[in-house]
Amino acid sequence: MALAPTVPLNDGHAIPQIGLGTWPLDDDQVAKAVVTAVELGYRHVDTAVRYGNEAGVGQGVRDSGLPREELFIATKLDGVYQGQDRALEGMEESLKRLGLDYVDLLLIHWPLPHRDEYISTWKTFERLQTEGKVRSIGVSNFKPTHLERLMEETSVVPAVNQIQLTPSITRIDERAFNDSHHIVTESYSPLGAGRDLLNAPVLANIARKYGKTPAQVVLRWHIQAGLVAIPKSANPQRMKENIEVYDFELDQQDLSAIDTLDAGRDAGVDSDIQGH
Ligand code: A2P
Repeated sequence: MALAPTVPLNDGHAIPQIGLGTWPLDDDQVAKAVVTAVELGYRHVDTAVRYGNEAGVGQGVRDSGLPREELFIATKLDGVYQGQDRALEGMEESLKRLGLDYVDLLLIHWPLPHRDEYISTWKTFERLQTEGKVRSIGVSNFKPTHLERLMEETSVVPAVNQIQLTPSITRIDERAFNDSHHIVTESYSPLGAGRDLLNAPVLANIARKYGKTPAQVVLRWHIQAGLVAIPKSANPQRMKENIEVYDFELDQQDLSAIDTLDAGRDAGVDSDIQGH
């Protein structure tokens, strides 16, 4: 069993490049999945208040028998907790559900620009980081315009921006912006969330060439792009596949073929109007 390598963060910490996505698993399912994941070499689990499964993630962490510090646990503050004081409450409640003293990464789940609370929320995140309740702080679904404002009005640059990203939703502009500010881009729904992507003939051809599966080809694409990815599965065979992506390399021809899956700049969620 090999552990996924880590990617350095701008705050001195590091994030395992492959993590376990947990939506929409319930508490029981996720507790079992975390134990299996740890056995397979996963050290990073991604949850959120909104997923309603933080308690199960915490249970899985304890059941895994691994020392807490060997795991990287990320959660996301829900929109209802945005705001200076609400964010403090939100973190306290998440830690309680998880049964942990700290999380490795806390993200603002959505910018919700119409609510205009992500600046005050972020200032609370800075405080939570200073207090040691969270090691690294970051955002999710933030566009460059949201990040620009955040960086102008606050003092800590986010360590991570977790965005919907897959070969059909490539977010080229967002990635370039994140890179230019040393913000790690993390891909959610990296496999296309179980929709048509994995059936693309282009992926089947490449997978055949390496004796891999289409999902492994897609995850390898994320890795070669320097992204962090959190594929979701509770199926042990798929979980195993999803972390065994470090023993082959896509060549230029493969990457060009995968480029044909790109659905363009407007593909995917629009976080100026969507979110919760
Ligand atoms: P399942 O949960 O039944 O294993 P994403 O991480 O992009 O949200 O994708 C999750 C979806 O992809 C789920 O439907 C999951 O199904 C499926 N999936 C996860 N890993 C694999 C894999 N290795 N091969 C095929 N499908 C997978």
